[in-house]
Amino acid sequence: MVRGTRLVVGVALASAALLAVAFALAWNPEIKAIARPAADSFDRALVAEGEGLARLGSCAGCHTADPARPLAGGRALATPFGAVFATNITPDVETGIGAWSREAFGRAMRRGIARNGEHLYAAFPYDHFTHVSDGELDALYAWLMTRRPIAGRAPATHLDGVFGFRPLVAAWNLLHLNEGPLPADPAQSSDWNRGRALAEGLAHCGGCHTPRDSLGAEDKARAYDGALTDGWYAPPLNGRSPAVRPWTTDRLSVYLRTGLSPAHAAAAGPMGEVTRALSEARDEDVHAIAVYFASLMSQAPAARLDQAEPIDRQALAAQTYPEAATLFAGACAVCHEPGAPMMQQGRPPLAWGTPLQADNAHNAVRTIMEGLTSPAGLIWPTMPSFADLLDDHQLRELTAYLRTRFTDKPPWPDIGDAVLQARQGEAR
Ligand code: HEC
Ligand code: HEC
Ligand code: HEC
Repeated sequence: MVRGTRLVVGVALASAALLAVAFALAWNPEIKAIARPAADSFDRALVAEGEGLARLGSCAGCHTADPARPLAGGRALATPFGAVFATNITPDVETGIGAWSREAFGRAMRRGIARNGEHLYAAFPYDHFTHVSDGELDALYAWLMTRRPIAGRAPATHLDGVFGFRPLVAAWNLLHLNEGPLPADPAQSSDWNRGRALAEGLAHCGGCHTPRDSLGAEDKARAYDGALTDGWYAPPLNGRSPAVRPWTTDRLSVYLRTGLSPAHAAAAGPMGEVTRALSEARDEDVHAIAVYFASLMSQAPAARLDQAEPIDRQALAAQTYPEAATLFAGACAVCHEPGAPMMQQGRPPLAWGTPLQADNAHNAVRTIMEGLTSPAGLIWPTMPSFADLLDDHQLRELTAYLRTRFTDKPPWPDIGDAVLQARQGEAR
């Protein structure tokens, strides 16, 4: 009894202490507005460096809703608690960050606090950007302040229930924010360390590839285990990678820069956007990221068992899904059948792509429905969208057929859900 009471008192005291600390941290002073710095007051080389870094960080990806108004915000980011709108980060003084000093910008990137002292939501990946070095923050600031100012306020964010109360973010930060640059690991090469700093920091790869806990924070114990993001599946990038061909440094470099790995597949959906941004980042930075992930994936099954001979169980698949076999012959074979002109250009067979090898059908279904636009710098037949040409039943059958024909893995149990979710996403 006594011990139980003590425990309860102890827990209550600890919670009260946590709350007190959180409240102390929740309050942050406003940082004084400044007159917008003149564009020519920034060093050109610094601005150019900032541009490359902004590509790595996909700043424009989230902060642009209308391509004619780059960085002016307004794009809605879905979270389990409601939509968070990306703000205007052009140097407009009234509605953007034109009045933000370097100090105010640095505090936002390192600690997720706006110039007026308000907490920002972690849909803005400051839990990653906190690892960016001071010199790189200088460069990013110089780049942002020399963009074209565009007036226009993004819609206000109103999250559900208690999550609408921004000071609560302070408690989240207490648990999840590991502030400042990461210490280098002396056991690893300088490329590896640079790659890790970029991947964990600016490029925030874990933002999609790491599963989140119930409060929306990345679960570091399951770093890069793979996660659903906006109806797509960002597959594992560690020893759990389901790829059937090894992801080497060279293959990763090519994939991240061009959006296509000839030994795997093309980058579809959100990853297509990431690779388009990376195609404009600096070569050595993308190479470093590739070194880091090649090392994380060096224990994956494919590293031991490279399936260089693509699986093709055509007879079995046709027998199991006769209707889908006819569909495939009519709609897909012209590009994907072994020996088709497209395949003769050195495109990867469907058997090598992770979409068919992963534990769920989301990426296969989404790719068939949406098709694929041409990745950076490549001219090729693009894959048309089949969303309006195939009904739900045909989509399910065709997806099951691909899994059986081009992999030796068990059938997916969840194709129906994946199709349903993709149709709902389409309707939104
Ligand atoms: C994954 C999407 C995403 C990416 C990538 C992203 N941001 Fe943001 N950012 C947001 C969202 C959402 C907000 C608003 C958060 C809120 O309202 O609480 C925001 C807010 C900000 C703010 C605060 C502005 C204000 O008005 O309060 C700054 C500064 C900022 N971002 C800079 C950047 C920079 C620089 C980059 C690239 C290095 C970047 N962001 C990349 C989503 C993103
Ligand atoms: C906005 C979400 C998002 C971000 C950020 C992101 N990824 Fe991805 N990634 C995905 C999705 C979704 C896929 C699956 C795409 C497909 O099937 O074509 C993917 C696929 C990949 C693949 C292919 C894996 C395989 O086995 O086929 C690699 C490699 C990869 N990402 C690396 C990265 C790296 C490195 C970063 C950081 C620079 C990154 N990703 C950032 C969403 C993201
Ligand atoms: C006009 C050519 C074309 C047609 C027709 C086509 N595709 Fe594709 N498909 C592509 C291209 C290009 C890619 C990107 C990967 C590549 O280059 O190999 C792709 C990628 C895919 C992927 C992603 C996995 C991977 O290896 O990249 C799947 C799954 C897929 N196609 C299924 C289908 C199915 C099913 C059909 C028929 C309903 C179909 N495709 C019809 C051109 C086509």
